[in-house]
Amino acid sequence: MLAELERLYQQALSELDAVTDAQALQAWRVRHLGRKAPLMQAFGRMREVPAEERPRVGRRINELRDALQQAYEAKAEALRQAELARALQEERLDVTLPGRPRPYGRLHPTTRTIREIVRIFQSMGFQVFTSREVETDEYNFQLLNIPPHHPARDMQDTFYVATPGVQADETPPVVLRTHTSPGQIHAMRRYAAQDPDNPPPIRVVLPGMVFRYEQITTRSEIQFTQVEGLAVGRHITFSDLKGTLTEWARRMFGPQVRTRFRPSYFPFTEPSVEMDVECFLCGGQGCPVCKYTGWLEVLGAGMVHPVVLRNGGYDPERYSGFAFGMGPERITMLRHGIQDIRHFWRNDARFLEQF
Ligand code: DAH
Repeated sequence: MLAELERLYQQALSELDAVTDAQALQAWRVRHLGRKAPLMQAFGRMREVPAEERPRVGRRINELRDALQQAYEAKAEALRQAELARALQEERLDVTLPGRPRPYGRLHPTTRTIREIVRIFQSMGFQVFTSREVETDEYNFQLLNIPPHHPARDMQDTFYVATPGVQADETPPVVLRTHTSPGQIHAMRRYAAQDPDNPPPIRVVLPGMVFRYEQITTRSEIQFTQVEGLAVGRHITFSDLKGTLTEWARRMFGPQVRTRFRPSYFPFTEPSVEMDVECFLCGGQGCPVCKYTGWLEVLGAGMVHPVVLRNGGYDPERYSGFAFGMGPERITMLRHGIQDIRHFWRNDARFLEQF
C-alpha cells in the first residue's frame, strides 16, 4: 500500500507542476487532497497493514499528506504572484492623467442673498421667524389694516385658493400670501401669548416666498421672495428704524454706502418710508441701473401702525415698533446687473453657474 501511495504522491507532484491556473489548481486539490483522494482515505485502509508496521506507515502517510499540502500552498502563492505581476503589467494605471472633475452643486443666487441679509440682522440680535405661505385673507390683508375694499389691495394682485366643490363666498377667502407681512401678526401673537399682560419685545426677520397674480415680464414674476423685519418694544422710535437699516445697508453694500429715506405709504405702517442706497454700481454718479438718479430703492419700511400692533396683541399706548420689507431678487438684480427677473426661475445652468 505504501508503495502505491508513494507513487501517487510522485504523480501528484508532477501533475501540480503542470498546473498553470487557479481552476486547474482547484481540480488538483480535490483530486489529491479532497476527502475521496487515495492519500486521504489511506487511514481507512490500515487494516491491510500488518500491526507492527502501522506506526511507521501511519507516520509516512502523514508526511506525504503534509508535503502535498505544502506543495499546494506554495503553488497557490506562486499563482497569486504571477496573477499580480500580470495585472500590474496589463492593467496599468496612468496616475499622471488629470482627474475627472465632478460638477459641484451651488446655492441659488436668491438663497445666497437671503442668507446674507438674514446673517446681518442675526448679528444685530434678530431671530428668524418663518410662517405659512398660504394665508387667510384676514392675515394677509385685514389684520394689516387693509380692509376688503381698500384701494391698497390694487398694489398686490392676489392668487385666491379655491376649495373644490365649495363656492368662493361660502368660506373665508384663502390666498397665497402676497407679502411676508402677515408673518408680523403671527410673530406678535406668538410672542404676546407668552405673557399677554406684558408681551415681550420682538426682533425678528421673516424670509419667505410670496406670490402675486401678475403678468410675467422682465420686471415682475408671479413668485418671488421677501425678507420682512419686525422690531417691537418700549420706546422704539423712527431713529431706531433709520439706524438699524442704515447699518444693515453698510454691512450689505459696503461701509461707505449712503442711504436716504423717502416718505411713502403702506397701510400697515405710519409713517411709512422707502429706503434708497447710493448706487453701488456707479457710486452715485448716475448710470443705467440707477436710471441716472444715483440712488437705488431697496426696501419699504415704517413705524408699525397702532391698529396692527393691537391686532398682534400689543397695546399701542405702551409699545411701538418698526417694520420693513425687501426683495432679495431685486437686490440680487441690482448687484449683478441682471436685466430679467425671469432668470431666477428659468433653471438655466448657464445663469446659475455664475454665482
Ligand atoms: N409688504 C410690503 C410689500 O410687499 C413691503 C413692506 C413695506 C413691508 C413696508 C413692511 C413695511 O414691513 O413696513 O410691498
